[in-house]
Parts: sequence; structure tokens; C-alpha cells
Amino acid sequence: MDDLEEESKRRGIPIIGKEKGEWLLQKVKEHQPKTILELGTANGYSGIILGSEGGELITIDINIKIVEEAIINYTKFSIDGKIITGDGVEVVKSLPTNYFDFIFIDFYKNGYLKILDDCLRLSKKGGVIIADNISAEGCQDFKEAILNNSKLKTKIIKIKDGLSYSVKIN
Ligand SMILES: C[S@@+](CC[C@H](N)C(=O)[O-])C[C@H]1O[C@@H](n2cnc3c(N)ncnc32)[C@H](O)[C@@H]1O
Repeated sequence: MDDLEEESKRRGIPIIGKEKGEWLLQKVKEHQPKTILELGTANGYSGIILGSEGGELITIDINIKIVEEAIINYTKFSIDGKIITGDGVEVVKSLPTNYFDFIFIDFYKNGYLKILDDCLRLSKKGGVIIADNISAEGCQDFKEAILNNSKLKTKIIKIKDGLSYSVKIN
């Protein structure tokens, strides 16, 4: 993973990186999700973490070129992830209700709020929704929305530009 992080940095591929990655891995180990959804695959760095405990991983990215790299990296790390190439905002509409134990949002920032209702629909009760870059400009409407949503219990994790960690409580 260190090599993949180095290569991603060198080529300007915006992956979550080691520090957030270690936190994310801890959450995956803690929750042992059976079903995982990711928005924003990139070259597969975070997907390798999400799928590392053997859950069913579905991940979405709009960029076919980067998806080709994720396929190669999943094979290298023996991750059995299903990658859907398309606009995450549209793709989530066709996914099954109450299906996911764990959702990781890390695609374009103005898209976060657009998919919030779908993520709530897709998530099981007790399911986890994590969003990256939560303190970055462009995520503030989403941040307010999750902090004020009665269906979610949310914490802000202060690693670099932040992550939100929400549990769907009803
Ligand atoms: C920050 S990167 C994801 C990094 C990845 N989660 C990781 O840490 O390894 C954001 C990704 O979102 C993708 N993306 C941007 N707009 C999108 C959209 N509308 N639907 C799906 N993916 C999108 C980009 O192609 C890019 O690969």
C-alpha cells in the first residue's frame, strides 16, 4: 500500500492516504460490514481498505481510465470489488434499499448533498456512512445536513481535512 500511495502522490491521484486509510481500516475491522458501497473509486486505494475484511464491495467512478487502474490494483491485493463506471449521483438511484452496512463517500464535493437521501435509503439501520474531506470548502452544506439529520448520529473526525462518521440510528 505504501508503494501505491507513493505512486498516487507522484501522479496527483487524490487518494485518502495512509493516515485516513488507517482510521478507515480500523472502522472496517470494527464494523465487519457485509455490504459496502463507495462513491469515488479512483485507482482503488481506499477500496482495497474497504474490501480487506471480505465484505461485498460495490464502488462507482465516472472515469473509465482510473477504473482500469483500480481493476489492476484490486487483482494485486486480491480484492473482489465490483466497479460500476458512471455518474454516482445517477447510479445510486438504481441500487437496492436497506442493503448496505457501510458507505464511503469520496467523489466530487458538490455531489455529496445530492446523494444524501439515496445514501439514507440504501443504508441499513445501524449502517455507517463516512464522507471524506468534510471540512473542505464545497462540503459544508453536506456537513450541516448530516449533523442536523435525526436519522444520523454523526461525529467529525479531525484527520487532515476531516472525515464524517455517521451511524444510521433510525
Ligand atoms: C478523491 S478521488 C477518490 C479517491 C479514492 N476514494 C481513494 O481514496 O482511493 C475522487 C474520484 O471521484 C470520481 N468522480 C468524480 N465525479 C464523479 C461522479 N459524478 N460520479 C462518480 N465518480 C466521480 C473521480 O473520477 C475520482 O476518481
